[in-house]
Amino acid sequence: MRIILSDTIEAAVKTTVKMVLEQIESHPDSVIGLATGRTMEPVYAQWVTEAKAGSLSFKQSFFFMLDEYLGLSEGHSLSFKSYIERHFLIPLSLSPDQFAFPPVHHHPIDKAGDDYEKTLRHRGGIDLQLLGIGQNGHFGFNEPGSNKFCRTRIVQLAPETREANRGSLNLAEVPHEALSMGIETILESKTLLMLATGKSKANAIKYLFNHHDDPACPATYLKSHPHFTLVLDPEAASKISLKI
Ligand code: F6R
Repeated sequence: MRIILSDTIEAAVKTTVKMVLEQIESHPDSVIGLATGRTMEPVYAQWVTEAKAGSLSFKQSFFFMLDEYLGLSEGHSLSFKSYIERHFLIPLSLSPDQFAFPPVHHHPIDKAGDDYEKTLRHRGGIDLQLLGIGQNGHFGFNEPGSNKFCRTRIVQLAPETREANRGSLNLAEVPHEALSMGIETILESKTLLMLATGKSKANAIKYLFNHHDDPACPATYLKSHPHFTLVLDPEAASKISLKI
């Protein structure tokens, strides 16, 4: 695990974006896995700003979404598809054909995980996967208790995840289930890049530091990956001892 401790949240975001852009610059046809959530909002904002100011083209790149809620109508504002359209696809005028979305409206739904894995294999796997971390140590929607060898499948969301993700919605409107890339699936990516910012992530980061392959905190599984970079701001790093 490589750790990058930034001195501000803005610096952590810039470091993250720089690593993604370097990947695309060196390999324009990269397959990039995208995460959503509040942590990633400034990442997409910075990415869009830098892309508009520079000359790097994303036309040959392909993007896989990490996860998606089940049971929301198409275009629902909480859906990760609409999130990525708002924050990334539309601002950069990318084509929807450059994206793969978890097929949550497929029937039968129990085949959706395998179908998404097939699409992933067809694209040759992920070159760089962006990841956030939940307060309970989840990544993607691989909640505590997940097996290291799980693959893309329907998952039950932990109560704390539904609460953290509801934003301004009533809790009752937040789905109980999602389709998430599995842990083994994610570990097959060539490079993993996790960004954790803010005080609310400090306990999960502390646990990640002190444990290995522990289902109580799925992010501990990432430490076995040979190319796993963790970018932290001072608040997320506040319960571990690291120097800038
Ligand atoms: C989202 C995802 C989740 C989030 C995590 C942190 O696609 O996969 O694992 O990265 O829940 O969310 P925020 O950044 O909102 O704290």
